[in-house]
Amino acid sequence: MTPIKKIGIFTSGSDSPGMNAAIRAVVRTSIFYNIEIAGIRRGFEGMINGDIYEMNTKSVSNIIQRGGTLLKTGRSEYFKTAEGRQKAYEQLKINGIDALIALGGNGTLKGVREFGDEYQDIKIIGIPCTIDNDLRGSDFTIGYDTAINTVIEAVDKIRETAESHDRLFIVEVMGRDSGMIALRTGMGVGAEAVLVPETRSDINALFERLEKGRKDKTSKIVMVAEGDEPGSAFEIGKAIMEKFPHYDTRVSVLGHIQRGGKPTCMDRVLASRLGVAAVEALKDGHTGEMVGLIHNDIEFTPFGQSVKHHHEVNEEFTRIVEMLSL
Ligand code: F6P
Repeated sequence: MTPIKKIGIFTSGSDSPGMNAAIRAVVRTSIFYNIEIAGIRRGFEGMINGDIYEMNTKSVSNIIQRGGTLLKTGRSEYFKTAEGRQKAYEQLKINGIDALIALGGNGTLKGVREFGDEYQDIKIIGIPCTIDNDLRGSDFTIGYDTAINTVIEAVDKIRETAESHDRLFIVEVMGRDSGMIALRTGMGVGAEAVLVPETRSDINALFERLEKGRKDKTSKIVMVAEGDEPGSAFEIGKAIMEKFPHYDTRVSVLGHIQRGGKPTCMDRVLASRLGVAAVEALKDGHTGEMVGLIHNDIEFTPFGQSVKHHHEVNEEFTRIVEMLSL
């Protein structure tokens, strides 16, 4: 086994809080093991353009508490082409990089999987970073805990105005085609119902819940994941307004605030553990795998199995949400 000489680290796709903590862990662990470490700016685009710089222990000072990503991020159409990937490979060679640590979600892992199949002399480990928590191979992804706490804080505020006006709020949260943010925060805010893309949402069942629910409730919250199939929160809101004109209904789309903010302690710890494990894995000869945490243990999942999979919806969650909103 040839020892790794120089790791290139990059963040790609959507940013997520805790990415900086993971970058810090990777940089400092590499230095601890006398492995050189280079930062690649703006994801795959930076790799193609050779936007690469040497990092040292100071490069990651004072970032553990910051949201966003020091390395910047982006999506690259060019990297999806064989020509783009070849250019990226040439730049890695020019910079003496023989291993990569990729921080991102589904699209990022898909990109490095293809790249790793084509250029097998570059060893690659992925670290799951996305607020969506939609990757198989880790119980939680970096950024998810911060995002759900941001949602909770926002909806608690919405609840106060809803309560004062006796209103029903439809709150839309992110997640692309995953309902993980909606499901957990729905329970956390005490929602009446949660609509997620993983299960068929029955608008009539929602009507029935609202109709049969306690009449003396002064505020109601319905959480909707952005990818849910009946349409956006506005469409669900419109349907509710038509069916229950006596309800004072409002729609609130939380949007990109869910991607920002100081990472929670859970995300910083997850990022630190996965960052250390990623470097140690490369050192031990791993490649083509995503590092994750399963039942609180570090586990490795081949890229092919970690991408494009969603957690199954835990029906216990929806059952509890409905039972407790009586
Ligand atoms: O994957 C993270 C995420 O925030 C999704 O929840 C959302 O659908 C998407 O990114 C939004 O992407 P953009 O920032 O490009 O609008």
